Amino acid sequence: MDRPRTGTDLRAIAQPSLSPVLGRYFERSWSHGAGHRLFDTDGQSYLDFANGIAVSALGHGHPAVNRAIHEQVDRLIVPTGAIGYAEPVVRLASELAATFPDPLDTVMFLNSGSEAIEAALKLARRATGRAGIVAFRGGFHGRTFGAASVTSSALNYRIGYEPLLPGVHLLPFPAVYRDFEGDEDRATATCLAALEELARTVLPADGIASILVEPVQGEGGYYPAPAAFLQGLRRFADEQGIVLIADEVQTGYGRTGRMWAFEAAGIVPDVVCVAKAIANGLPLSAIVSRRELQERWGRSAHGSTYGGNPVSCAAGLAVLATIQAEKLVENAAARGAELTRGLQAMAAEDPRIGDIRGPGLMIGIEFVTDRATKAPAGDLVNALVAGCADTGLLVLSCGRDHNIVRMIPPLDVTPDEVGEALGMLDRTLASLN
Ligand SMILES: Cc1ncc(COP(=O)(O)O)c(C=O)c1O
Repeated sequence: MDRPRTGTDLRAIAQPSLSPVLGRYFERSWSHGAGHRLFDTDGQSYLDFANGIAVSALGHGHPAVNRAIHEQVDRLIVPTGAIGYAEPVVRLASELAATFPDPLDTVMFLNSGSEAIEAALKLARRATGRAGIVAFRGGFHGRTFGAASVTSSALNYRIGYEPLLPGVHLLPFPAVYRDFEGDEDRATATCLAALEELARTVLPADGIASILVEPVQGEGGYYPAPAAFLQGLRRFADEQGIVLIADEVQTGYGRTGRMWAFEAAGIVPDVVCVAKAIANGLPLSAIVSRRELQERWGRSAHGSTYGGNPVSCAAGLAVLATIQAEKLVENAAARGAELTRGLQAMAAEDPRIGDIRGPGLMIGIEFVTDRATKAPAGDLVNALVAGCADTGLLVLSCGRDHNIVRMIPPLDVTPDEVGEALGMLDRTLASLN
């Protein structure tokens, strides 16, 4: 579709009225998106490996998703949750539930990742009658009070908001590369021991309602949790009657080369939080658990005016159908492996790259000033992210020290686009020598 180049610098309009609290990676003015490209108001095109932070998993203006949205807009927009049922909502609940292993079969819709976290924490407290919440350092779960209380990926999410939710205990996360010299077994043993220690000395296990974990830490630095760590959490939760919550807001929907990242560890959480890719950009999120748990939660114990609006759910049905019909989980695994191989070749030539880690299309490239000390190279990454955008590639950073570049291409990215992105990243990195 041809669009006019308006050349408008939207910052000038934003400046007097749009809140300064919003952080931005770029100060660019966006016009439109088409497929895997974003276009700025000067008509420049950018290969989008950021996707609104893993949201537009099928790229921009996907025909099946847009068609579903248009048709539903003409039929019914208003959320019907409080007065009954609407077809896209009930159908998405059933089709989303079908993507999970037993016994996860029951879906509650909300609007954002943070709301899904809030709902999961409330469900766990009400269903267990316990107050304690265990989460992990470096985790990011959102910005509402409950979600911020379990977030520790950066101080800025917490300071000035205390007191946060009481009863939260933040334990070390097995960030294998950064904190454990690449020793996965030691990372796992140390972090599971910290949980045992908590239960022995601070909070008895029968006071813990939930353990909340990202299967791959996202904003904190794209650190995958070792499978044995997730298995250990599952075991502990089973023994102690604790609700294990997986935050799959960023990792879910095929991003890691599996439909759900927890599958790689061969475990099944009690509650899964889902958002971001679920409706390719429209606001929608969900928690998924076994029915009995949500029955224990109790009728009207939680709710949401907009959660599960029919338009977002219609988009969600098109997203799921496309992922399945086009085998996009498999594509994420295959393209992720190609991208990782290309990055490893780059790392072989460039000591500023300390680590490259997946899984799938959730790839973190950690930059250091010295491989031995692993001192974070945040300035380099800021320059690299900016330089890539100038070259026509959108990537983002993450991690407390902003020294990790994350690549989160659309799930239907092609081998050519993987090659194109690698070329742009390589050229930009070389220019920063
Ligand atoms: C793992 C994870 N959980 C929760 C959230 C919060 O989601 P939202 O910004 O939609 O509230 C995010 C957002 O980046 C996330 O990455």
